[in-house]
Amino acid sequence: MSGVTVRVPAKVNIQLAVGGARPDGYHDLANVFLAVSLHDEVTVRPADRLTLTCEGPGAEQVPLDTTNLAARAALLLAERHGIAPDVHIHIAKRIPVAGGMAGGSADGAGALLACDALWGLKTPRDELLELCARLGSDVPFSLVGGAALGVGRGELLTPLEVGGTFHWVFAVADGGLSTPAVYGEFDRLTEGVRVPEPQASRALLDALREGDAPGLGAALVNDLQPAALALRPSLARTLDAGVAGGALAGLVSGSGPTTAFLTKSADAAAEVAHTLRTSGTCATTHIATSPAPGASQVSPSGD
Ligand code: C5P
Repeated sequence: MSGVTVRVPAKVNIQLAVGGARPDGYHDLANVFLAVSLHDEVTVRPADRLTLTCEGPGAEQVPLDTTNLAARAALLLAERHGIAPDVHIHIAKRIPVAGGMAGGSADGAGALLACDALWGLKTPRDELLELCARLGSDVPFSLVGGAALGVGRGELLTPLEVGGTFHWVFAVADGGLSTPAVYGEFDRLTEGVRVPEPQASRALLDALREGDAPGLGAALVNDLQPAALALRPSLARTLDAGVAGGALAGLVSGSGPTTAFLTKSADAAAEVAHTLRTSGTCATTHIATSPAPGASQVSPSGD
């Protein structure tokens, strides 16, 4: 086999309920993930040694060493099976880099699935999910896609029903935000405050199941948003611009700085994207729908 390509979706957290810091430094979450139709593609090919390249917007910010989750995925899978991780990994990037849409996690899940196919390992799904959880809290969701509630540090997933198509606009900011820095700011802002146990919102899960966009818009919530806004105050203007442009609601995606706007239709999404692009409050926009499938092999197709 000359190469394997896997397509992996971005995610938006439609609810991100964050508990207090745990002794291990992580935070317990009630994290409602929704996969969206904005993808990275990860291609692996046999090589003399493990190497990595990346193309696309923001590619220059992507590390090409073993700190990259795609490289770590290849190393982890090879180690598990006692084989050499000799592959070239190429990432075609569309998901904003360090944007709060799980782009790095997507590449980790994609490389894991692609190497598994290239090396003919047929690793069982539950073992792949366990390896994903070792790579990072958001990586298991990148593998499964759709919609899911993540508890623990976000890696323990229960699939959720989605009753329709939701239309989104994502406003990409200049530069990224560090996830640990945003959680650190959350800790600072909640110091001395009793942080409640994170719990999934019934209204949000109902709206998701019923395909009710206005209901979902009213229930969107991200406990990391105040921390992301404290570190990047200009995001407040982006949120205002998207809502003024007709979005049902807007919120910071995950740890940011990408902002996500739910709209009532594909036409409304086009209008909101236009308003955002001309507002001068973001670098670029993407229109996407949800739910989207998880990591899946696109070539060779096996047909
Ligand atoms: O799991 P992952 O490596 O993606 O997490 C990156 C960082 O985000 C962690 O080092 C931690 O600072 C923060 N984090 C957290 N609680 C979570 C998930 C991530 O504090 N549930």
